[in-house]
Amino acid sequence: MRIGVVGAGVIGQLRAQSIKENPATQLAAVFDTSLDAAKKAVEGTSAPAFTSLQPFLDTGMDAVIVSSPPHVHEEACHGALERGRHLLCEKPLSNTVEGCKRIVDAAIARKRVLAVGFNLRYYPAIKFVKDTIDSGRIGELDHLRVFGGHEGLPKFRIDWQYKYPESGGGAMMDVGIHMTDVARYLLGEITEVSGVMSENVWHVPGSEDNAVAVFRNPKGIPAIYQATWSEWKGYKFYVEAYGSHGMVRGAYAPMQNMIITQDRPGGKRSTRWNFFPEIIVREKLKTWHSTALLSFKGELEDFLKMTRGNTHVPLADGYAGLRSVEVARAVKESSEAHKVVTLPALGRMEAV
Ligand SMILES: NC(=O)c1ccc[n+]([C@@H]2O[C@H](COP(=O)([O-])OP(=O)(O)OC[C@H]3O[C@@H](n4cnc5c(N)ncnc54)[C@H](O)[C@@H]3O)[C@@H](O)[C@H]2O)c1
Repeated sequence: MRIGVVGAGVIGQLRAQSIKENPATQLAAVFDTSLDAAKKAVEGTSAPAFTSLQPFLDTGMDAVIVSSPPHVHEEACHGALERGRHLLCEKPLSNTVEGCKRIVDAAIARKRVLAVGFNLRYYPAIKFVKDTIDSGRIGELDHLRVFGGHEGLPKFRIDWQYKYPESGGGAMMDVGIHMTDVARYLLGEITEVSGVMSENVWHVPGSEDNAVAVFRNPKGIPAIYQATWSEWKGYKFYVEAYGSHGMVRGAYAPMQNMIITQDRPGGKRSTRWNFFPEIIVREKLKTWHSTALLSFKGELEDFLKMTRGNTHVPLADGYAGLRSVEVARAVKESSEAHKVVTLPALGRMEAV
């Protein structure tokens, strides 16, 4: 499969690398408004580097990966879909709910695969939590706790990463959006949202620095959620799932799992940890990029499967992209109006 990349920044370079290193894929072209960035991404291949969208789209390719900033995702996504390309777009799918809906509708109308880069689903610690819940080892799922946070503004390299007109929001659209997706992935769906958000730390208009919320799935099972830009201990995310017969935790960074199982509620307990030493050593040598790259490789494998009609893969689809942005907006609405916001179940997108 010939795949083009739009946006060759930190993430786009890794996306291009994942394409180059997969024997079933070929880098077709790269478009970035910076020629240097585009050229760097095509290094070692014969793929052309472009600084505008149209000649990029005119190049022969089967699929496009969009990894430009969120406020410009839409133009590239529509351009790719109009030409019949399958699409994998970075999170957030768009900086607005309406933008997400337009991209989802276009993918459905064109019968193309739309995947969204919620790569935490491919982190071993999250995979373990998902597999543990599905296996029934912790019994009936009772509730989740999800958390994503970092120190806020000093963490950002560029303005678009935190300014509302480009990013579409604050902590919930940044590190928090991954955790919204993890909650939905584990709950099956999010149909009810109540929450409180604030802009009291960094005072960036429209960009909340803290949000606490409760999400519920159609069965009423809740996730307690926090997204924050005032996690002074540094970048961290975790999910904990509590069931009738135990609990399981997945966390990063560092990558970690903990599992407690018991034969009955309050019964004899067994506790296990996994510290993933190989990942910790690799990150010391090659930074977090090495872990992200592995997850992008996993996503690419499943993207190929999705284009062949197999949707039974962990890869997030367009509905996951849409729901995560809808949930961020619902938390804002809930916070402002002091009410519970309900959303219709979306499920999974149909196979192409
Ligand atoms: N999945 C993840 O874990 C993860 C992590 C970080 C960022 N992201 C997402 O990936 C995307 C890119 O993030 P990044 O950290 O690589 O950003 P970045 O700023 O490092 O790179 C963005 C690149 O896009 C280029 N660009 C700007 N406007 C463009 C346009 N109109 N068309 C084409 N290229 C354009 C810039 O020149 C830059 O090279 C964002 O959507 C971001 O939210 C995902």
